[in-house]
Amino acid sequence: MKSNSTQDVTLNPETLPAHVAIIMDGNGRWAKKKMMNRIKGHEQGSQIVRSVVTACRELEIGTLTLYAFSTENWARPKHEVKALMMLLKKFIVSERENLLKNNIRLNIIGQKHKLPLDVQKEVDATMELTKDNNKMLLNLALSYGSREEITTAVKQIVEKIESKNLDSRDITQDLISDHLYTKAMPDPDLIIRTGGEYRLSNFLLWQAAYSEIYICDTLWPDFTKDEFIKILKNYQERDRRFGKVACSTSNDG
Ligand code: FPP
Repeated sequence: MKSNSTQDVTLNPETLPAHVAIIMDGNGRWAKKKMMNRIKGHEQGSQIVRSVVTACRELEIGTLTLYAFSTENWARPKHEVKALMMLLKKFIVSERENLLKNNIRLNIIGQKHKLPLDVQKEVDATMELTKDNNKMLLNLALSYGSREEITTAVKQIVEKIESKNLDSRDITQDLISDHLYTKAMPDPDLIIRTGGEYRLSNFLLWQAAYSEIYICDTLWPDFTKDEFIKILKNYQERDRRFGKVACSTSNDG
């Protein structure tokens, strides 16, 4: 990721998103365009992950969630799954020092127990090592799918009702949120998808209720800090109404 000057764009630190979530798409197409193996795209994509984490920390964005491996991605060819797991492990080990130095806590959202044991071991070690860090939360969505997350939450709530630890009349939106992987986190203010596809692909469906969505054609391995800053600027120019009317006018829907 190029660290181009962004002198032409000034961000207001007061209105930066508290939580940015990214669907990192386009690694395969990037590799194909360059007549390379898809794995090369994922390798280059990992470098961009490093740069985006650094950029978010510098900007003091509190939470960054990256969709790194979905529940559906297990159906990819075995060698691609293996390569992705290896890259994740490499990232989690090599970034430890950086996360510690920069006060960043690592967290996983998704079915951590489904990851290969060696990956789980490194994930657990990095999570433990960074558990007291409080300047930024880095969520890696691994074996993550929103429908699985919601289904698991429903099961947990039903179990509590059946064991008389919860009254069904006490089910609220907050209670449901508290049973998701993202409990105690702000909902994403901004969801970015690279690679130009107009869908959420089973990512944070509950949490995205009022997220601003930005889709860019850039393939993830080509994503730059410059573009990220411009997207943040675009976000700051939006009028977030959360279903209400704008403060200045009452007839714009
Ligand atoms: C989608 O691109 C990307 C993924 C399924 C994996 C994302 C993984 C990385 C960015 C690298 C490893 C992650 C970390 C956190 C180190 P695609 O393969 O679907 O691309 P395509 O749509 O062009 O085929």
